[in-house]
Amino acid sequence: MQLSEDLRLALDRVAFAGKLGVVPDPWQRDLLRSDSDRVLLNCSRQSGKSTISAVIALHRALYRPGSLVLCLAPAERQSKELFSKIAAFYRTLHDAPPPDSDRKLGMHLSNGSRIEALPGTEKTVRGFSGASLLVVDEASRVDDGLYHAVRPMLAVSGGRLVMLSTPFGKRGAFFEEWTNGVGWERYEVPASACPRIPPAFLEEERRALPEWVYRQEYGCEFVETDDQVFGYDLVAASISAEIEPMFGEEF
Ligand SMILES: Nc1ncnc2c1ncn2[C@@H]1O[C@H](COP(=O)(O)OP(=O)(O)OP(=O)(O)O)[C@@H](O)[C@H]1O
Ligand SMILES: [Mg+2]
Repeated sequence: MQLSEDLRLALDRVAFAGKLGVVPDPWQRDLLRSDSDRVLLNCSRQSGKSTISAVIALHRALYRPGSLVLCLAPAERQSKELFSKIAAFYRTLHDAPPPDSDRKLGMHLSNGSRIEALPGTEKTVRGFSGASLLVVDEASRVDDGLYHAVRPMLAVSGGRLVMLSTPFGKRGAFFEEWTNGVGWERYEVPASACPRIPPAFLEEERRALPEWVYRQEYGCEFVETDDQVFGYDLVAASISAEIEPMFGEEF
C-alpha cells in the first residue's frame, strides 16, 4: 500500500471501512468518526453493531502500534465470533491469514499490536492489562462481575471502551450505564433504521413474537424479563428517602 494511501486510511476510519468492503450506514459513519472513549451502542438485532466494532478494532490495532485490543462477550464462543470478524477483515486487506491467528483467540501484528478474544470468565480476564480498546459484545448479557473485572484494564492506558448490545431486561451494567451512566456517547439503532431489514420482515416478526420480545430485539427497549419477580419501575417507585429504615444502626 502506498504511504499516502496508508496515511489516509489511518486518519479516516470511514475510508478504512470502505477498503474492507463496508459502506457504513449513517449511524455507523458517525461512530467511525467519533473519538469518544466511552461508547454505548443500543442496537437492534442484525443492525451491524458487531461488524462496525470489528472495523474499529482492526483500525486501532493497525494504526496504533503496540496497542492491545480486547474482545469480550458473555461467553468465549461469542468473543471468538467477534474476533473472527476482525480476522476476516484482516484477510481482506492482506490476502493472508493474520499472524498467530490459528488459535482462533488472538493475533499478534508486526507493529507490536495484539488483538485478543477473552474467555467469559473473571479469573482468566484478570491476567490482561493496559488495553487500548476494549470491545464488549452482547454487553447486556455480560455478567456484572466480569464487567467490573475488565474496567480496570483501561485505567493506566486511558483506553477506549465500546459496549454494544441488544437490551436484555432492566438490569445489569449495560442497562445501568445506558440509563444513568455519565460520560458516555450513546447510539440507539432500532431495526427500522437499518436499511437491510425489510419492513415486511419486521411485520412478520411483530406477529410471530411476544410483544416484549419484539420490542427488545428490534426496538432497543429495555423490557422487564419474565424472571424479574418485581419489576424495575415498581422497585424504583417503592424507594423513598422520606421513610426511616425499620431497624436502627445496630442491624
Ligand atoms: N454497513 C453495512 N453494509 C452492508 N452489510 C452490513 C453492514 N453492516 C452490517 N452488515 C451485515 O449485516 C449482517 C449483520 O451484521 P452484524 O452481525 O454486525 O449485526 P449485529 O447487530 O451484531 O447482529 P446480532 O444482534 O445478531 O449480533 C452481517 O451479514 C453483516 O455483514
Ligand atoms: Mg453481533
